[in-house]
Amino acid sequence: MLAILLLSAILGLSQPPVVPVVEEGIKGYVPTAEVIAAKEQFRDDKFGVFIHWGVYSMLAQGEWVMHQQNVPYEEYSRYPGGFYPSRFDAAQWVRQIKASGAKYITITSRHHDGFSMFATKASPYNVVDATPFGRDPLKELADACHAEGIGLNFYYSLLDWGRDDYPRGDGNPKADYAHYLDFMCEQITELLTGYGPIGCIWFDGDWAKIKKPEEGKELVVDFDWGYERIYKLIHSLQPSCLVANNHHRVPIPGEDIQVFERDIPGENGAGYSRTSHISQDLALETCKTLNDNWGYNLRDPKWKSVPELLRTLVSIAGRNANLLLNVGPGPDGTIPEGSVERLAAMGEWMSANGESIYGTRATLLKPQPWGVVTHKEGKIFLHVLEMPENGTITLPFTLKVKKGNVKAFGSGTPLTFKKTKTDFTVQVPSDADCSTDFIIEIDL
Ligand code: GLC
Repeated sequence: MLAILLLSAILGLSQPPVVPVVEEGIKGYVPTAEVIAAKEQFRDDKFGVFIHWGVYSMLAQGEWVMHQQNVPYEEYSRYPGGFYPSRFDAAQWVRQIKASGAKYITITSRHHDGFSMFATKASPYNVVDATPFGRDPLKELADACHAEGIGLNFYYSLLDWGRDDYPRGDGNPKADYAHYLDFMCEQITELLTGYGPIGCIWFDGDWAKIKKPEEGKELVVDFDWGYERIYKLIHSLQPSCLVANNHHRVPIPGEDIQVFERDIPGENGAGYSRTSHISQDLALETCKTLNDNWGYNLRDPKWKSVPELLRTLVSIAGRNANLLLNVGPGPDGTIPEGSVERLAAMGEWMSANGESIYGTRATLLKPQPWGVVTHKEGKIFLHVLEMPENGTITLPFTLKVKKGNVKAFGSGTPLTFKKTKTDFTVQVPSDADCSTDFIIEIDL
Protein backbone atom coordinates (compact mmCIF):
# COMPACT_ATOMS: atom_id res chain seq x y z
CA MET A 1 0.00 0.00 0.00
CA LEU A 2 2.78 2.39 1.05
CA ALA A 3 4.66 1.56 -2.13
CA ILE A 4 1.63 2.40 -4.24
CA LEU A 5 1.13 5.69 -2.39
CA LEU A 6 4.82 6.61 -2.83
CA LEU A 7 4.75 5.71 -6.49
CA SER A 8 1.58 7.68 -7.17
CA ALA A 9 3.03 10.66 -5.27
CA ILE A 10 6.18 10.53 -7.44
CA LEU A 11 4.09 10.28 -10.58
CA GLY A 12 1.94 13.17 -9.39
CA LEU A 13 -1.08 10.90 -9.06
CA SER A 14 -1.62 11.60 -5.36
CA GLN A 15 -4.64 13.81 -5.98
CA PRO A 16 -7.77 11.66 -6.15
CA PRO A 17 -10.14 12.73 -8.89
CA VAL A 18 -12.77 15.30 -8.03
CA VAL A 19 -16.04 13.43 -8.20
CA PRO A 20 -19.39 15.19 -7.85
CA VAL A 21 -21.60 14.34 -4.91
CA VAL A 22 -24.28 11.84 -5.88
CA GLU A 23 -27.86 12.99 -5.87
CA GLU A 24 -29.20 12.20 -2.46
CA GLY A 25 -32.21 12.41 -0.23
CA ILE A 26 -35.91 12.27 -0.96
CA LYS A 27 -36.53 13.75 -4.39
CA GLY A 28 -39.24 16.43 -4.27
CA TYR A 29 -39.48 16.19 -0.46
CA VAL A 30 -42.47 18.09 0.90
CA PRO A 31 -42.66 18.06 4.71
CA THR A 32 -45.94 16.75 6.06
CA ALA A 33 -48.18 18.72 8.44
CA GLU A 34 -46.74 16.61 11.30
CA VAL A 35 -43.18 17.51 10.36
CA ILE A 36 -44.04 21.20 10.01
CA ALA A 37 -45.66 21.22 13.47
CA ALA A 38 -42.72 19.31 14.99
CA LYS A 39 -40.28 21.79 13.47
CA GLU A 40 -42.16 24.70 15.04
CA GLN A 41 -42.12 22.93 18.40
CA PHE A 42 -38.40 22.29 17.99
CA ARG A 43 -37.82 25.99 17.23
CA ASP A 44 -39.85 26.96 20.30
CA ASP A 45 -37.73 24.71 22.53
CA LYS A 46 -34.47 26.56 21.78
CA PHE A 47 -32.27 24.59 24.15
CA GLY A 48 -31.35 20.91 24.36
CA VAL A 49 -28.66 18.85 26.07
CA PHE A 50 -26.48 16.44 24.11
CA ILE A 51 -25.17 13.29 25.84
CA HIS A 52 -22.11 11.43 24.57
CA TRP A 53 -21.85 8.22 26.50
CA GLY A 54 -20.44 4.84 25.61
CA VAL A 55 -17.78 2.25 26.29
CA TYR A 56 -15.21 4.94 25.42
CA SER A 57 -16.22 6.82 28.59
CA MET A 58 -14.24 4.21 30.55
CA LEU A 59 -11.04 5.29 28.82
CA ALA A 60 -11.73 8.93 29.71
CA GLN A 61 -10.16 10.39 26.56
CA GLY A 62 -13.18 11.35 24.52
CA GLU A 63 -15.24 9.31 22.06
CA TRP A 64 -12.50 9.13 19.40
CA VAL A 65 -10.07 7.27 21.68
CA MET A 66 -10.08 4.01 19.72
CA HIS A 67 -9.15 5.82 16.52
CA GLN A 68 -6.82 8.39 18.05
CA GLN A 69 -4.86 5.94 20.20
CA ASN A 70 -4.79 3.31 17.44
CA VAL A 71 -6.48 0.76 19.67
CA PRO A 72 -7.08 -2.35 17.55
CA TYR A 73 -10.77 -3.15 17.28
CA GLU A 74 -10.15 -6.67 18.64
CA GLU A 75 -8.73 -5.08 21.81
CA TYR A 76 -11.30 -2.30 22.05
CA SER A 77 -14.18 -4.74 21.68
CA ARG A 78 -13.12 -6.41 24.96
CA TYR A 79 -13.81 -3.22 26.95
CA PRO A 80 -17.60 -3.71 27.08
CA GLY A 81 -16.85 -6.75 29.25
CA GLY A 82 -15.86 -4.30 31.98
CA PHE A 83 -18.60 -1.72 31.48
CA TYR A 84 -20.60 -1.40 34.68
CA PRO A 85 -21.83 2.16 35.32
CA SER A 86 -22.95 1.42 38.84
CA ARG A 87 -24.27 4.91 39.56
CA PHE A 88 -26.31 5.34 36.39
CA ASP A 89 -29.71 6.75 37.26
CA ALA A 90 -31.75 7.98 34.30
CA ALA A 91 -34.18 9.88 36.50
CA GLN A 92 -31.26 11.80 38.04
CA TRP A 93 -29.87 12.69 34.60
CA VAL A 94 -33.26 13.99 33.58
CA ARG A 95 -33.61 16.06 36.76
CA GLN A 96 -30.13 17.55 36.32
CA ILE A 97 -30.73 18.31 32.66
CA LYS A 98 -34.21 19.68 33.17
CA ALA A 99 -32.81 22.02 35.82
CA SER A 100 -30.85 23.76 33.05
CA GLY A 101 -34.01 24.79 31.26
CA ALA A 102 -33.28 22.42 28.37
CA LYS A 103 -36.38 21.07 26.68
CA TYR A 104 -34.90 18.00 25.04
CA ILE A 105 -32.08 15.48 25.27
CA THR A 106 -30.15 14.04 22.32
CA ILE A 107 -28.16 10.93 23.26
CA THR A 108 -25.67 8.80 21.36
CA SER A 109 -27.38 5.50 20.57
CA ARG A 110 -24.38 4.20 18.62
CA HIS A 111 -21.18 6.16 18.04
CA HIS A 112 -18.35 5.66 15.53
CA ASP A 113 -16.89 2.83 17.68
CA GLY A 114 -19.93 0.84 16.57
CA PHE A 115 -21.07 -0.09 20.07
CA SER A 116 -24.84 0.10 20.50
CA MET A 117 -25.89 1.66 23.79
CA PHE A 118 -29.34 0.10 23.54
CA ALA A 119 -30.93 -3.34 23.34
CA THR A 120 -30.64 -4.30 19.70
CA LYS A 121 -31.26 -7.59 17.95
CA ALA A 122 -29.25 -6.39 14.97
CA SER A 123 -25.87 -6.99 16.65
CA PRO A 124 -24.63 -8.70 19.82
CA TYR A 125 -22.18 -5.79 20.27
CA ASN A 126 -24.56 -3.87 22.52
CA VAL A 127 -24.89 -2.71 26.10
CA VAL A 128 -27.37 -5.40 27.13
CA ASP A 129 -25.65 -8.43 25.62
CA ALA A 130 -21.97 -7.47 25.82
CA THR A 131 -21.64 -5.86 29.27
CA PRO A 132 -22.10 -7.06 32.85
CA PHE A 133 -24.38 -4.04 33.27
CA GLY A 134 -27.00 -5.79 31.15
CA ARG A 135 -29.50 -2.95 31.27
CA ASP A 136 -30.81 -0.76 28.44
CA PRO A 137 -29.94 2.81 29.50
CA LEU A 138 -31.76 4.29 26.52
CA LYS A 139 -35.00 2.61 27.59
CA GLU A 140 -34.55 3.84 31.15
CA LEU A 141 -33.79 7.31 29.85
CA ALA A 142 -36.80 7.23 27.50
CA ASP A 143 -39.09 6.29 30.38
CA ALA A 144 -37.65 9.05 32.58
CA CYS A 145 -37.92 11.64 29.78
CA HIS A 146 -41.50 10.74 29.01
CA ALA A 147 -42.39 10.83 32.72
CA GLU A 148 -40.81 14.28 33.10
CA GLY A 149 -42.15 15.71 29.84
CA ILE A 150 -38.76 16.38 28.26
CA GLY A 151 -38.11 15.49 24.62
CA LEU A 152 -35.79 12.67 23.55
CA ASN A 153 -33.72 12.45 20.36
CA PHE A 154 -31.25 9.83 19.20
CA TYR A 155 -27.80 10.50 17.75
CA TYR A 156 -26.84 7.74 15.28
CA SER A 157 -23.43 7.30 13.66
CA LEU A 158 -23.38 6.42 9.99
CA LEU A 159 -19.80 5.28 10.12
CA ASP A 160 -18.52 2.28 12.03
CA TRP A 161 -14.90 1.50 12.99
CA GLY A 162 -15.54 -2.16 13.61
CA ARG A 163 -18.05 -3.86 11.35
CA ASP A 164 -16.77 -5.86 8.42
CA ASP A 165 -19.58 -4.80 6.11
CA TYR A 166 -18.88 -1.09 6.61
CA PRO A 167 -16.87 0.21 3.65
CA ARG A 168 -14.02 1.93 5.43
CA GLY A 169 -12.24 2.82 2.24
CA ASP A 170 -9.28 0.55 3.11
CA GLY A 171 -10.11 -2.04 0.50
CA ASN A 172 -11.80 -4.27 3.08
CA PRO A 173 -12.91 -7.25 0.95
CA LYS A 174 -15.92 -7.97 3.19
CA ALA A 175 -17.33 -4.46 2.69
CA ASP A 176 -20.97 -4.73 1.74
CA TYR A 177 -22.84 -1.47 2.00
CA ALA A 178 -26.23 -2.97 1.10
CA HIS A 179 -25.84 -5.30 4.08
CA TYR A 180 -24.70 -2.45 6.35
CA LEU A 181 -27.63 -0.29 5.25
CA ASP A 182 -30.04 -3.11 6.15
CA PHE A 183 -28.39 -3.25 9.57
CA MET A 184 -28.78 0.51 10.10
CA CYS A 185 -32.42 0.41 8.99
CA GLU A 186 -33.09 -2.45 11.40
CA GLN A 187 -31.57 -0.44 14.27
CA ILE A 188 -33.38 2.76 13.33
CA THR A 189 -36.62 0.75 13.29
CA GLU A 190 -35.84 -0.52 16.80
CA LEU A 191 -35.08 3.01 18.02
CA LEU A 192 -38.33 4.33 16.61
CA THR A 193 -40.56 1.51 17.77
CA GLY A 194 -39.26 0.65 21.24
CA TYR A 195 -38.70 3.99 22.97
CA GLY A 196 -41.92 6.00 22.56
CA PRO A 197 -42.06 9.28 20.66
CA ILE A 198 -38.63 10.42 19.45
CA GLY A 199 -38.16 14.04 18.41
CA CYS A 200 -35.34 13.56 15.96
CA ILE A 201 -32.75 11.16 14.60
CA TRP A 202 -29.44 13.00 14.50
CA PHE A 203 -26.96 11.51 12.03
CA ASP A 204 -23.21 11.95 12.13
CA GLY A 205 -20.27 10.59 10.18
CA ASP A 206 -21.32 11.37 6.62
CA TRP A 207 -18.20 13.51 6.37
CA ALA A 208 -16.18 10.28 6.54
CA LYS A 209 -16.44 10.07 2.77
CA ILE A 210 -15.12 13.57 2.34
CA LYS A 211 -11.42 14.11 2.02
CA LYS A 212 -10.03 17.35 3.43
CA PRO A 213 -10.09 20.18 0.91
CA GLU A 214 -6.60 20.43 -0.56
CA GLU A 215 -5.34 23.33 -2.57
CA GLY A 216 -8.82 24.76 -2.64
CA LYS A 217 -10.29 21.64 -4.22
CA GLU A 218 -13.05 19.69 -2.57
CA LEU A 219 -12.18 16.06 -2.97
CA VAL A 220 -15.42 14.20 -2.68
CA VAL A 221 -15.75 10.48 -2.99
CA ASP A 222 -18.88 9.51 -4.83
CA PHE A 223 -20.83 7.54 -2.28
CA ASP A 224 -24.52 6.96 -1.79
CA TRP A 225 -25.52 6.38 1.84
CA GLY A 226 -29.08 5.48 0.82
CA TYR A 227 -30.57 8.50 2.54
CA GLU A 228 -33.79 8.22 0.58
CA ARG A 229 -34.52 4.87 2.20
CA ILE A 230 -33.33 5.94 5.67
CA TYR A 231 -35.22 9.24 5.75
CA LYS A 232 -38.44 7.72 4.38
CA LEU A 233 -38.21 4.97 6.98
CA ILE A 234 -37.95 7.53 9.80
CA HIS A 235 -40.92 9.56 8.61
CA SER A 236 -42.99 6.43 8.03
CA LEU A 237 -42.32 4.97 11.50
CA GLN A 238 -42.86 8.24 13.37
CA PRO A 239 -44.37 10.97 11.20
CA SER A 240 -43.38 13.71 13.69
CA CYS A 241 -39.77 12.56 14.02
CA LEU A 242 -37.40 15.06 12.43
CA VAL A 243 -34.25 14.25 10.48
CA ALA A 244 -30.98 16.04 11.27
CA ASN A 245 -27.61 15.27 9.70
CA ASN A 246 -24.32 16.73 10.88
CA HIS A 247 -22.79 16.49 7.41
CA HIS A 248 -21.44 20.05 7.33
CA ARG A 249 -22.87 20.81 3.89
CA VAL A 250 -26.01 22.20 2.27
CA PRO A 251 -29.01 20.19 3.58
CA ILE A 252 -30.40 17.61 1.21
CA PRO A 253 -34.12 16.94 0.59
CA GLY A 254 -35.68 14.91 3.37
CA GLU A 255 -33.86 16.70 6.19
CA ASP A 256 -35.71 18.93 8.65
CA ILE A 257 -32.93 20.38 10.79
CA GLN A 258 -29.68 21.95 9.60
CA VAL A 259 -26.87 21.25 12.05
CA PHE A 260 -23.89 23.48 12.79
CA GLU A 261 -21.07 21.77 14.69
CA ARG A 262 -19.33 23.97 17.30
CA ASP A 263 -20.45 26.86 15.18
CA ILE A 264 -22.81 29.77 15.60
CA PRO A 265 -24.74 29.68 12.28
CA GLY A 266 -22.97 31.77 9.70
CA GLU A 267 -19.67 32.07 11.58
CA ASN A 268 -17.98 28.73 10.84
CA GLY A 269 -16.12 29.25 14.10
CA ALA A 270 -14.70 25.72 14.26
CA GLY A 271 -13.99 25.49 10.54
CA TYR A 272 -16.20 22.43 10.02
CA SER A 273 -18.90 24.01 7.87
CA ARG A 274 -18.26 23.35 4.24
CA THR A 275 -20.94 25.82 3.24
CA SER A 276 -22.02 29.29 4.31
CA HIS A 277 -25.59 28.35 3.39
CA ILE A 278 -28.16 28.84 6.15
CA SER A 279 -31.49 27.23 5.38
CA GLN A 280 -34.60 29.39 5.58
CA ASP A 281 -36.96 26.41 5.69
CA LEU A 282 -35.23 23.99 8.00
CA ALA A 283 -34.98 24.37 11.74
CA LEU A 284 -31.42 25.23 12.81
CA GLU A 285 -29.33 23.78 15.59
CA THR A 286 -25.79 24.42 16.85
CA CYS A 287 -24.13 21.75 18.96
CA LYS A 288 -21.42 22.82 21.39
CA THR A 289 -19.27 21.31 24.10
CA LEU A 290 -19.24 22.42 27.74
CA ASN A 291 -15.47 21.94 27.94
CA ASP A 292 -13.46 20.87 24.88
CA ASN A 293 -14.76 17.31 24.55
CA TRP A 294 -17.92 15.46 23.64
CA GLY A 295 -17.13 12.14 25.32
CA TYR A 296 -15.89 12.06 28.95
CA ASN A 297 -12.29 13.24 29.20
CA LEU A 298 -10.51 13.19 32.51
CA ARG A 299 -7.87 15.65 31.37
CA ASP A 300 -10.09 18.39 30.04
CA PRO A 301 -10.57 21.15 32.60
CA LYS A 302 -11.48 23.77 29.98
CA TRP A 303 -14.98 24.40 31.27
CA LYS A 304 -16.74 27.34 29.66
CA SER A 305 -18.05 29.92 32.12
CA VAL A 306 -21.77 30.28 32.76
CA PRO A 307 -21.96 33.81 31.26
CA GLU A 308 -20.15 32.52 28.15
CA LEU A 309 -22.58 29.62 27.83
CA LEU A 310 -25.60 31.87 28.27
CA ARG A 311 -24.27 34.43 25.79
CA THR A 312 -23.80 31.56 23.33
CA LEU A 313 -27.37 30.42 23.87
CA VAL A 314 -28.68 33.97 23.38
CA SER A 315 -26.51 34.57 20.30
CA ILE A 316 -27.78 31.34 18.78
CA ALA A 317 -31.42 32.12 19.61
CA GLY A 318 -30.79 35.49 17.96
CA ARG A 319 -29.91 33.59 14.78
CA ASN A 320 -33.17 31.69 14.92
CA ALA A 321 -31.40 28.51 15.99
CA ASN A 322 -31.29 26.11 18.94
CA LEU A 323 -28.34 25.29 21.17
CA LEU A 324 -27.54 21.63 21.83
CA LEU A 325 -25.07 21.72 24.70
CA ASN A 326 -23.09 18.60 25.45
CA VAL A 327 -22.37 16.62 28.60
CA GLY A 328 -20.18 13.51 28.74
CA PRO A 329 -21.09 11.20 31.63
CA GLY A 330 -18.25 9.22 33.15
CA PRO A 331 -17.77 5.46 33.40
CA ASP A 332 -19.77 5.32 36.63
CA GLY A 333 -22.78 6.70 34.75
CA THR A 334 -22.89 10.14 36.38
CA ILE A 335 -22.70 13.52 34.70
CA PRO A 336 -19.47 15.31 35.78
CA GLU A 337 -19.93 17.80 38.59
CA GLY A 338 -18.53 20.64 36.44
CA SER A 339 -21.34 20.08 33.96
CA VAL A 340 -24.08 19.67 36.56
CA GLU A 341 -23.13 22.97 38.24
CA ARG A 342 -23.12 24.86 34.97
CA LEU A 343 -26.44 23.39 33.87
CA ALA A 344 -28.02 24.42 37.16
CA ALA A 345 -26.69 27.99 36.88
CA MET A 346 -27.96 28.25 33.32
CA GLY A 347 -31.35 27.03 34.51
CA GLU A 348 -31.51 29.72 37.15
CA TRP A 349 -30.97 32.38 34.50
CA MET A 350 -33.42 30.70 32.14
CA SER A 351 -36.18 30.55 34.70
CA ALA A 352 -35.89 34.33 35.13
CA ASN A 353 -35.26 35.24 31.49
CA GLY A 354 -36.53 32.32 29.42
CA GLU A 355 -39.57 34.29 28.27
CA SER A 356 -37.25 36.23 25.97
CA ILE A 357 -35.84 32.98 24.48
CA TYR A 358 -38.37 30.13 24.45
CA GLY A 359 -40.98 30.31 21.74
CA THR A 360 -39.29 33.25 20.07
CA ARG A 361 -38.09 33.68 16.51
CA ALA A 362 -35.30 35.90 15.26
CA THR A 363 -36.34 37.08 11.85
CA LEU A 364 -36.84 40.81 12.42
CA LEU A 365 -33.23 41.91 12.32
CA LYS A 366 -29.92 40.21 11.69
CA PRO A 367 -27.37 40.15 14.53
CA GLN A 368 -25.95 43.56 15.35
CA PRO A 369 -22.62 44.62 16.87
CA TRP A 370 -24.43 45.24 20.19
CA GLY A 371 -26.42 41.97 20.25
CA VAL A 372 -29.48 40.21 18.85
CA VAL A 373 -33.24 40.56 18.57
CA THR A 374 -35.85 37.90 19.33
CA HIS A 375 -39.60 38.27 19.11
CA LYS A 376 -42.85 36.52 19.84
CA GLU A 377 -46.47 37.58 19.66
CA GLY A 378 -46.83 41.10 20.99
CA LYS A 379 -43.24 41.40 22.20
CA ILE A 380 -39.79 42.21 20.91
CA PHE A 381 -36.67 41.55 22.98
CA LEU A 382 -33.39 43.34 22.41
CA HIS A 383 -30.59 41.27 23.89
CA VAL A 384 -27.80 43.74 24.56
CA LEU A 385 -24.57 41.73 24.72
CA GLU A 386 -22.21 44.70 24.30
CA MET A 387 -22.92 48.25 25.39
CA PRO A 388 -23.55 50.17 22.12
CA GLU A 389 -21.03 52.89 21.41
CA ASN A 390 -23.22 55.93 22.02
CA GLY A 391 -25.51 54.13 24.47
CA THR A 392 -28.38 53.92 22.00
CA ILE A 393 -29.82 51.22 19.78
CA THR A 394 -31.53 52.20 16.56
CA LEU A 395 -33.83 49.71 14.86
CA PRO A 396 -34.32 50.27 11.12
CA PHE A 397 -38.12 50.20 11.44
CA THR A 398 -40.66 52.09 13.47
CA LEU A 399 -42.93 50.70 16.16
CA LYS A 400 -46.28 51.79 17.50
CA VAL A 401 -45.62 51.83 21.22
CA LYS A 402 -46.66 54.05 24.09
CA LYS A 403 -44.66 55.40 27.00
CA GLY A 404 -43.88 52.61 29.45
CA ASN A 405 -43.97 49.92 26.77
CA VAL A 406 -40.20 49.89 26.42
CA LYS A 407 -38.60 48.62 29.59
CA ALA A 408 -35.74 46.73 31.16
CA PHE A 409 -36.83 43.09 31.21
CA GLY A 410 -37.18 41.80 34.73
CA SER A 411 -37.08 45.08 36.68
CA GLY A 412 -39.67 46.70 34.41
CA THR A 413 -37.86 50.07 34.60
CA PRO A 414 -39.24 52.18 31.72
CA LEU A 415 -36.63 53.20 29.15
CA THR A 416 -36.45 56.30 27.00
CA PHE A 417 -37.14 55.91 23.30
CA LYS A 418 -37.62 58.01 20.21
CA LYS A 419 -39.40 57.12 17.01
CA THR A 420 -39.41 58.56 13.53
CA LYS A 421 -41.31 57.38 10.48
CA THR A 422 -38.48 55.04 9.57
CA ASP A 423 -36.70 54.04 12.73
CA PHE A 424 -36.88 53.52 16.44
CA THR A 425 -34.19 54.44 18.95
CA VAL A 426 -33.91 53.13 22.51
CA GLN A 427 -31.63 54.50 25.19
CA VAL A 428 -29.69 51.77 27.00
CA PRO A 429 -29.27 52.80 30.66
CA SER A 430 -25.65 53.74 31.34
CA ASP A 431 -25.49 51.29 34.24
CA ALA A 432 -26.92 48.38 32.22
CA ASP A 433 -25.11 45.12 33.01
CA CYS A 434 -24.28 43.51 29.67
CA SER A 435 -21.84 40.95 31.08
CA THR A 436 -24.37 38.19 30.38
CA ASP A 437 -27.27 39.80 28.54
CA PHE A 438 -29.14 43.04 29.25
CA ILE A 439 -32.65 42.46 27.91
CA ILE A 440 -34.92 45.24 26.72
CA GLU A 441 -38.57 44.31 26.31
CA ILE A 442 -40.78 46.16 23.90
CA ASP A 443 -44.52 45.51 24.29
CA LEU A 444 -46.39 46.08 21.11
C1 GLC B 1 -18.10 15.24 15.41
C2 GLC B 1 -17.29 14.17 16.11
C3 GLC B 1 -18.16 13.26 16.88
C4 GLC B 1 -19.20 13.98 17.70
C5 GLC B 1 -19.92 15.00 16.88
C6 GLC B 1 -20.88 15.82 17.69
O1 GLC B 1 -18.75 14.74 14.33
O2 GLC B 1 -16.57 13.41 15.21
O3 GLC B 1 -17.39 12.44 17.68
O4 GLC B 1 -20.10 13.03 18.14
O5 GLC B 1 -19.01 15.85 16.27
O6 GLC B 1 -21.29 16.92 16.99
